[in-house]
Amino acid sequence: MDTLTFSDSISATTRDGVLLVLIDNPPVNATSLGVRTGLMAALDYATQDTVRGIVITGAGKTFVGGADIREFGKPPEAPFLPDVYLRLEQFGKPVVAAVNGAALGGGCELALACHGRVASPTASFGLPEVKLGIVPGAGGTQRLPRLVGVTTAVEMIGTGRSVKASEALRVGLVDRIAPEELTAEAIALVEALTGKDLRRTGELVATRISDADIDAAAAKILAKARGQTAPGEAVRLVKAALTLPFADGLVEERRTFLRLRDSQEAAALRHVFFAERAAGKVEALEKATPRTIECVGVVGTGLMGSGIAVSALNAGYRVIGVEQSVEGAAKGRERIAGLLDKAVQAGRFDAAGRDERLRRLTVASDLGALHDADLVIEAVFDDFDVKTDLFRRLDEVVQADAILATNTSYLDPDAIAAATRRPERVVGLHFFSPANIMRLVEVVNCTRTQSDVLATALAFAKRLGKLAIVCGVTEGFIGNRIFSAYRREAEFMVEDGALPHEVDQAMEAFGFPMGLFAVSDMAGLDIAWARRKRQAATRDPNARYFEIADRLCEAGRLGQKTGQGWYAYPDGKRTIDPDVTALIVAERARKGIAPRSPVPGEIVKRLLTAMADEGRSLLSEGIAARASDIDLVMINGYGFPAHRGGPMFAAETTNAAAV
Ligand code: 3HC
Repeated sequence: MDTLTFSDSISATTRDGVLLVLIDNPPVNATSLGVRTGLMAALDYATQDTVRGIVITGAGKTFVGGADIREFGKPPEAPFLPDVYLRLEQFGKPVVAAVNGAALGGGCELALACHGRVASPTASFGLPEVKLGIVPGAGGTQRLPRLVGVTTAVEMIGTGRSVKASEALRVGLVDRIAPEELTAEAIALVEALTGKDLRRTGELVATRISDADIDAAAAKILAKARGQTAPGEAVRLVKAALTLPFADGLVEERRTFLRLRDSQEAAALRHVFFAERAAGKVEALEKATPRTIECVGVVGTGLMGSGIAVSALNAGYRVIGVEQSVEGAAKGRERIAGLLDKAVQAGRFDAAGRDERLRRLTVASDLGALHDADLVIEAVFDDFDVKTDLFRRLDEVVQADAILATNTSYLDPDAIAAATRRPERVVGLHFFSPANIMRLVEVVNCTRTQSDVLATALAFAKRLGKLAIVCGVTEGFIGNRIFSAYRREAEFMVEDGALPHEVDQAMEAFGFPMGLFAVSDMAGLDIAWARRKRQAATRDPNARYFEIADRLCEAGRLGQKTGQGWYAYPDGKRTIDPDVTALIVAERARKGIAPRSPVPGEIVKRLLTAMADEGRSLLSEGIAARASDIDLVMINGYGFPAHRGGPMFAAETTNAAAV
């Protein structure tokens, strides 16, 4: 069978008069210039009488991963994607997409422009553009609602959520699923369509639904947008598919796409996209082989330990939990089963999935049960003596090559490792609570951690579906160090003249889901208070110290759990409390501080600067490998808005006057 070459990434063969076009543009078959020109050339070729129709598929495991994000910083080059797809849709012979894997963004739009779609069972479809701060720019907002209805389109495009082949079939996004012969099924569809009126998606009429129904679907999306522009624009464009002629809708979509593509929000989210890909690459580990992990031990099955256990069960591991007593073990098992039940209720898996996970779980009351574990993670009380004693005892019971991981937040993992005879097989795995939900894990490369141990910890975190960020040993690791700097600066701003709600409002307007003082109230003020008391003896007496937090705690205001903290909570609702304001005013007077209200933009600027300064220290100390790793930690662990790119990116790029 002769192969025809249309460009560096588009080739084709012919079978029974059908042109089988292959998109081969590694790594994800993005619609780079060569793909666009090649598709145009393939369409030219297919005008010949000998060609009855076209099947388009992707090489490898992806169909098409979308437009080439790396081209976004440059001026667009013809042929433009919407024009390629319009020509394809208008083509006089059947064109069928044989979707062999992920069809995302421009890849999904390619499938939408075809006259028929056949999917492999592993295919998925999505328009994730909003996650990049843009809207679909090659017909997605106009074709998807015409094909699957406005409500589904609003939800898919507004959230960027992908659907699996089975759901795509159910909503009408694909015509058939081919369990085996994808290409043969696609050719069969070309044959079935030959000689018939072709169903061109752009010519369909989107089924009208009431404005109230659209608004209800849109409201959920806009509520989560938190100052992000793209989701609202996506909703507007999908609505336009109901009122504008198709051609006008395409023009409006393209105009919006190009405008957003050049926005700060899109630059920030592109930064986050590439940061996540970079985080997985650790130079020193290229040659290290991760060891196989089959059985994971979790010591302590409280809030954190049970979340870690559930994550490991979800990833297919055998899990052994350990508690101090038989009753404790029974409670731990109950807690883990409870989290699995919640996941069933949320539709993540079914009851059979829960039972299968429970069969892989043992919860014991004796450390000896960990003999078979390849990796043991401790999630016990964050106290140095408790942890070192545990590590010493673990050292005795686990196999010689087992890895021990500490989940400490603030203690020195090097000192914990030193309590064992295997410090080179000790690593930090700093999960965030709830560990079965939160995506971030700081993987702490302790001074003596061996490279295969670090590689294993990273591979383990990846299999859990987590975003792993490697970090060196320092108090609080990357996230808590930056968070402490953020908190310190916010507290100083309060002493200098701002009020807690002003600080919170400024950061919430910037995009944080909750301001720092509100978060502190939620977490409880007593933990930090206890730490401050512990540190009192060693604190530099000349360093600036913020007493107001201590005064609140002394007054019994420990946050939401006592009904009062930085705010009051009558009926559970966060409210400014004049007593707190009075206390702040009195403390300022006592220290002789002449208060000054912050000027617009000052709060955000000062807090971003404090975070970025601390980030630069982490980089210079070699604790973090890249500025973008710091951004990812703060976005995924501390609520920093992704559409601002993280503190390092934002400090460089945000015009504080504009926020
Ligand atoms: N453009 C350019 N490069 C891309 C890319 C894209 N759309 N998608 C992925 N890549 C690159 C990654 O940067 C990475 O490069 P690296 O090896 O140099 O680090 C490589 O491809 C592999 O990516 P992953 O590690 O993410 O590979 P996976 O196999 O885990 O996942 C994927 C594959 C599901 C396709 C995932 O890469 C993904 O979600 N990609 C982005 C999808 C997306 O957002 N598409 C929309 C683009 S915008 C658009 O289409 C606009 C249109 O409407 C006009």
